[in-house]
Amino acid sequence: MNILLVGSGGREHALAWKIAQSPLLSRLVIAPGNPGMAAHGEVRPVKATDVEGLVALARETAADLVVIGPEAAVEAGLADALGEAQIPCFGPTRQAGQLESSKAFTKAFCERHGLPTGAYVVCEDAAEAKAALDRFQPPYVVKADGLAAGKGVTVAKTRAEAEAAIDDTLGGRFGSAGARVVIEEFLDGEIGSLFALCDGEHAIVFGHAQDHKRAYDGEQGPNTGGMGTYSPAPLFTAELVERVRSELAEPAFAAIAAEGAPYRGALFVEFMATRDGPKLVEFNVRFGDPECQVLMLRLESDLVPYLMACAEGELDRLPPPVWREESAVCVVMAAEGYPEKPVTGAAIAGAEADFGDKVVVFHAGTSRDADGTLRASGGRVLNVCALGGDLVEARKAAYDAVSRIDLPGGFHRTDIGWRALAR
Ligand code: GLY
Repeated sequence: MNILLVGSGGREHALAWKIAQSPLLSRLVIAPGNPGMAAHGEVRPVKATDVEGLVALARETAADLVVIGPEAAVEAGLADALGEAQIPCFGPTRQAGQLESSKAFTKAFCERHGLPTGAYVVCEDAAEAKAALDRFQPPYVVKADGLAAGKGVTVAKTRAEAEAAIDDTLGGRFGSAGARVVIEEFLDGEIGSLFALCDGEHAIVFGHAQDHKRAYDGEQGPNTGGMGTYSPAPLFTAELVERVRSELAEPAFAAIAAEGAPYRGALFVEFMATRDGPKLVEFNVRFGDPECQVLMLRLESDLVPYLMACAEGELDRLPPPVWREESAVCVVMAAEGYPEKPVTGAAIAGAEADFGDKVVVFHAGTSRDADGTLRASGGRVLNVCALGGDLVEARKAAYDAVSRIDLPGGFHRTDIGWRALAR
């Protein structure tokens, strides 16, 4: 089978690593990819949002399946264009993708269909948004409506911080993604990331993990796309997984289909386990990053049949996926200044050493010079991942590898998995 994988981050490197292990694979083409992904397939310089270019690349490489990694490609309408070209695709249409591309759409969607989530207000005007803060208690949650690469969310302890976030968002910090601001009720509890696959009709749970969204240890600092993950997390009891599946994932798939946009691909249900049960924080219309990295390490089953079944409407024919009993941990090594103003260009040493068969270093934001030097080219640079008999062992292996990598000026959190260890 020929597969075209779209994307260039750590999530897509993890997908490429896993797809490349499939006995069903004949050829893996990756666009635009990154230097780490070159070990698993042919990297072609077509941007994830270049819909025309990607459809042409899928035709040229006789792709039997296109796998969409990032939300930007969903929003650009890649699945729609591939559908018109009759090329099987793992990833939702633009219409279904609104579940991530508009926070306001999702909140209204939850309201229409009775999905549990926090109260909210949508505003286009700063004065109106600031007045709306009266309806909420601190901490205030202020979000850009559109896609902002994980940086459009502010959890403000004070009203002054919330008002500054409103001014920032509506003032153009996120471009058109910040044309509207969503103010949300702060949900108290433990946060979780659950993944479900859907083929337009049938759906299955496809793993879960816990992420650390704040930049610094102890859940301090600004929100990021995610600084590290672990799986399994003790939060995910069988009862909670069943509640998230039956109260959030399944109803979302049924409702989006009823609205004329059957969902094909991975849905990332980010929820808060509150005292009143799981409540939706956000839907994302793709695998999580860096949640995907730990899921791929733990997935024992071949990934390719699940990706293909989503595209072909045959998910009901597959057995449930098998997960390794071992724990997986991912530590994100980030560039100096991330997430506000990442400094790029630092020369990285040691990332491509042999760390043994339990450690994998995924590239998230790297580039390679003609002389082979690896450089930081993004905010999140490397994802150092490890498997271990339990969380303690996996964590030790990941941090041992981190200590052997030099990312000048960079930083990482040293407390990934603390919630599980504190139990
Ligand atoms: N790790 C959170 C995200 O992928 O949005």
